[in-house]
Amino acid sequence: MKKIGVLTSGGDAPGMNATIRAVVRSGIYNEVKMVGISRGYTGLLNEEINEMDISSVGDIIHRGGTVLKTSRCEKFRTEAGIQEAVNILKKHEIDGLVVIGGDGSYQGAYKLGLAGIKIMGIPGTIDNDLAYTDYTIGFDTAVNTVLHAISAIRDTSISHDKVTIIEVMGRCCGDIALYAGLAGGAESILVPEEKYEVTKICEKLLQGRNRGGNNNIILVAEGTESAADLQKKIMINAGIESRVTVLGYLQRGGTPSAVDRILASKMGAKAADLLIAGKSNRAIGIKDNHLIDVDIIEALAQKKVFDKEMYNLSQILSM
Ligand code: ADP
Ligand code: F6P
Repeated sequence: MKKIGVLTSGGDAPGMNATIRAVVRSGIYNEVKMVGISRGYTGLLNEEINEMDISSVGDIIHRGGTVLKTSRCEKFRTEAGIQEAVNILKKHEIDGLVVIGGDGSYQGAYKLGLAGIKIMGIPGTIDNDLAYTDYTIGFDTAVNTVLHAISAIRDTSISHDKVTIIEVMGRCCGDIALYAGLAGGAESILVPEEKYEVTKICEKLLQGRNRGGNNNIILVAEGTESAADLQKKIMINAGIESRVTVLGYLQRGGTPSAVDRILASKMGAKAADLLIAGKSNRAIGIKDNHLIDVDIIEALAQKKVFDKEMYNLSQILSM
């Protein structure tokens, strides 16, 4: 393995920079030439390829976002796009490619693998929606960001005796809502994996009122329904006014937590090491606190199991 490329793709996630740093420095440590591909698959197709040295990844471990930038690239979903990318990688003599991204990015990487490129996938997404790994890079930071928001909103919510609905990201996965909700003591947590009844939510609000507490935090994952729709339903069902905060993109930014930086450093180094050892088509993950690598197609095929036990606990503790 003489030259390895690295790119970030899909939604950015805190810790992507720490991952790039680990991939690049592990490659250089093993005397491999390292190149960064800007703007994900779009940049690959535009040949935005630049050599990276030790200092190209200096002073980035603590930064959110991705210095390589990222994108979503429609052309990459086509066979012609994949073939063009293969030709470009061959032209630049890139023997191996590390893709940092979510399941969509993995699909693209898998297709490059089928076309003969040696690839490695590293899970970089705040959503924590990849089943084969316990955690993805960026998830812990996003949960902490939501947690800070819950604490701040609770202050004003209490002061005004108001119910607040907070909408969080996660696509079809409820993990951000579940983890931040449990840690933040949210009174209700709504996730796409569990059906909910608006009447039950309203009953809980009324019970809270009867106990003298009018403030109440409802955390809703974006894949469940919009906070605005839920607000209307609560008004229709119980005549209770509520405020809405959609946290949006602030969940994707910010300095990565220690947990994410360490995960990123370990996973980045492992991806480079595996490529150098001649391996390909692997997805790096963490299970029971141990780094793992699994076939990328197997990683994509696995169905995420929702942590029902944790959800039940959140229900009990928020009674
Ligand atoms: P994420 O990687 O965070 O899940 P996306 O689902 O948007 O984000 O995917 C990122 C990019 O990966 C897409 O814009 C596209 O270029 C590529 N991609 C997604 N799905 C496929 C696919 N089925 N085949 C090839 N490339 C894909
Ligand atoms: O996948 C990360 C994520 O932030 C999701 O939580 C969210 O649904 C989506 O990306 C938003 O994507 P976009 O950048 O296209 O608005």
